Amino acid sequence: ANLTFVTLLGSLRKASLNAVVANSLPALAPAGIEIRALGSIADFPHYDADIQAEGFPPEVVAMGQAIAAADGVVIVTPEYNYSVPGALKNAIDWLSRLPENPFANKPVAIQTASPGAIGGARAQYHLRQSMVFLNAQVLNKPEIMIGQATSRIDAENGTITDESTRQHLTAQLEALAQAARR
Ligand code: FNR
Repeated sequence: ANLTFVTLLGSLRKASLNAVVANSLPALAPAGIEIRALGSIADFPHYDADIQAEGFPPEVVAMGQAIAAADGVVIVTPEYNYSVPGALKNAIDWLSRLPENPFANKPVAIQTASPGAIGGARAQYHLRQSMVFLNAQVLNKPEIMIGQATSRIDAENGTITDESTRQHLTAQLEALAQAARR
């Protein structure tokens, strides 16, 4: 059976290393897995229950529907100050308040890339913590923490130059597919 995964990107900048990773996934996915990018989280207002009371912003509703319709979510994000970038946390906060939390029981995989040695590992554990509250089914392994990312990713050309990184990404998508088929 065919599966559709959606990518949620935590970086807003044009030359983002993490964006290169997210954009590479369609070509790296095993057969039978389609990868689609979710919309940008840049336009989400800061979470505010007063805005929510007047109606969810349309971009929040649209992203919630896309996640709900998908077989899995791949979150690709930088680490900021040992944690989840504020814009991504904000998007998750909005999505979590939708009448039907789209992350509930949803298979989720996490990928982080950083020029640093640890590859964003610390952000992953904070992200996992939020996903516990949302009752998502976050994949434990394989983990994708791309350290020294500037030597493995060519942001200018938009390519992952390191073959082993590409293989790990494919392996994680396969594991997410197995989780989604369960
Ligand atoms: C960073 N960066 C960073 N890197 C890291 O490995 N651990 C960290 O805690 C942080 N903290 C941090 C905070 C802030 C505010 C910024 C702007 C950056 C560096 C970060 O990994 C680097 O800028 C990446 O290139 C960001 O990802 P994108 O935008 O290239 O995908």
